[in-house]
Amino acid sequence: MSYWWAFCTFLTSTLTIVSTQYVPPYTEECRTGMYPPQGPTFKGAVTWYTVDLDLPPSKRWSALMSEKKDDIANMIKVIKDIADAFVPSGKLIDFVDKVLPLIVDTLPYPYDEELKGIASASGVPLGEIALFNLFYEVFTVCTSVVAEDSNGNLIHGRNLDFGLFMGWDMKNKSWQITEQLKPLVVNIDFRRSNHTVFKSTGFAGYAGMLTGMKPHSFSLTINERFSMDGGYIGIIEWLLHHRDAMWMGFLTRTVLENATSYEEARSLLSQTKLLAPAYYILGGNQTGQGCIITRARTESLKPLELNLKQGRWYLLQTNYDHWKAPLFLDDRRTPGMKCMNQTLQPNISFKTLYDVLSTKPVLNKLTTYTTLMEVSKGKLESFVRDCPNPCMPW
Ligand SMILES: *[C@@H]1O[C@H](CO)[C@@H](O)[C@H](O)[C@H]1NC(C)=O
Ligand SMILES: *[C@@H]1O[C@H](CO)[C@@H](O)[C@H](O)[C@H]1NC(C)=O
Ligand SMILES: *[C@@H]1O[C@H](CO)[C@@H](O)[C@H](O)[C@H]1NC(C)=O
Ligand SMILES: *[C@@H]1O[C@H](CO)[C@@H](O)[C@H](O)[C@H]1NC(C)=O
Ligand SMILES: *[C@@H]1O[C@H](CO)[C@@H](O)[C@H](O)[C@H]1NC(C)=O
Ligand SMILES: *[C@@H]1O[C@H](CO)[C@@H](O)[C@H](O)[C@H]1NC(C)=O
Repeated sequence: MSYWWAFCTFLTSTLTIVSTQYVPPYTEECRTGMYPPQGPTFKGAVTWYTVDLDLPPSKRWSALMSEKKDDIANMIKVIKDIADAFVPSGKLIDFVDKVLPLIVDTLPYPYDEELKGIASASGVPLGEIALFNLFYEVFTVCTSVVAEDSNGNLIHGRNLDFGLFMGWDMKNKSWQITEQLKPLVVNIDFRRSNHTVFKSTGFAGYAGMLTGMKPHSFSLTINERFSMDGGYIGIIEWLLHHRDAMWMGFLTRTVLENATSYEEARSLLSQTKLLAPAYYILGGNQTGQGCIITRARTESLKPLELNLKQGRWYLLQTNYDHWKAPLFLDDRRTPGMKCMNQTLQPNISFKTLYDVLSTKPVLNKLTTYTTLMEVSKGKLESFVRDCPNPCMPW
């Protein structure tokens, strides 16, 4: 239990240090004219890679890994340094090197073999690759929007915010892990028989999916949901051999790979037992097909659907249940909705959605990338982001 105490103390002190630099929360007028991306909030384009699903799982990631292995090694080193600073005498690293490799064999196919393939192609120890893959079950804070234009066409966008509490760099005013993740952002075209099965934006070395689209069928993003019945309990259960639940990022990948329609995706995302709570934001390929699935570990709570008759032409999800107010220190929902409301349905497009996702604090120090997806055209674009000062840390 003393690790948890150390961890809590660490979180509290980080929050205090960081927030005293930034009261009151930094907000701004809704941005316009940000697209095509340029200027100080745009750090760079994202490169496309192909993963061939016809290859055995252990070989699928080899090409990508040989290109990104140095970036992965750098990031793991930063995680270790941060861990060393608050867990005494390398105990956490022991756990990573000795216990986590054993977890890999308990993962369902194809994830067990893919992780081993990623480790061998990158030269990074298996326990550290496992850590990198479990990482996202905790602490991903994000904004996702699915919106329908006046022609019934669906547009889905998201900011992926990651790295909260992980090493605030006082000098650069940035999160160390967030910065280290930026070179790992990749777009991937997953192919079978030389045809696209789905497309995604992800982090090299991570076999799960947080953002993706099955062209002409559905689009999907995942946001973290904080809850007392959180990921820790699920992970502990997993270690204690209760393994009937699914890792949330692996479920997303499985659905993108194998579900064939919006309806099938919705029912799998609503019904599969999960290790940790989550929000799934799902868009379909025709009018009215958009929903927020709020997941407890075993059930879906108050699903919310697009409803044009009630004027609900978009759904916006951050990291709070839609029927509750957001945490006052972290309200990205109100500014995001304000900008969506100003945009108006006839004007919604990649251009205007990118403007919404570029407005602080929807854009913040944790924002790693922005992705825009249009299912009917099979189009996915993503951009690595920066949030120049002054900017909210989350
Ligand atoms: C912080 O800033 C210094 C100098 O400006 C730079 O050399 C360093 O790479 C930065 N660190 C990160 C994590 O961005
Ligand atoms: C795969 O598809 C690409 C274009 O989509 C084509 O150029 C290439 O020849 C195809 N390869 C095979 C082996 O069919
Ligand atoms: C998708 O289904 C195929 C065929 O059943 C299976 O081999 C594959 O592992 C599945 N993919 C995932 C990610 O579960
Ligand atoms: C929508 O998706 C379903 C299931 O994938 C497919 O049968 C249908 O043709 C798609 N409709 C359009 C307009 O793409
Ligand atoms: C945006 O519009 C919706 C629907 O009219 C309304 O319920 C919501 O309060 C508005 N939010 C903001 C922040 O303007
Ligand atoms: C949105 O479209 C309306 C016409 O439908 C136009 O008058 C208005 O200026 C547009 N607003 C923005 C923010 O582009």
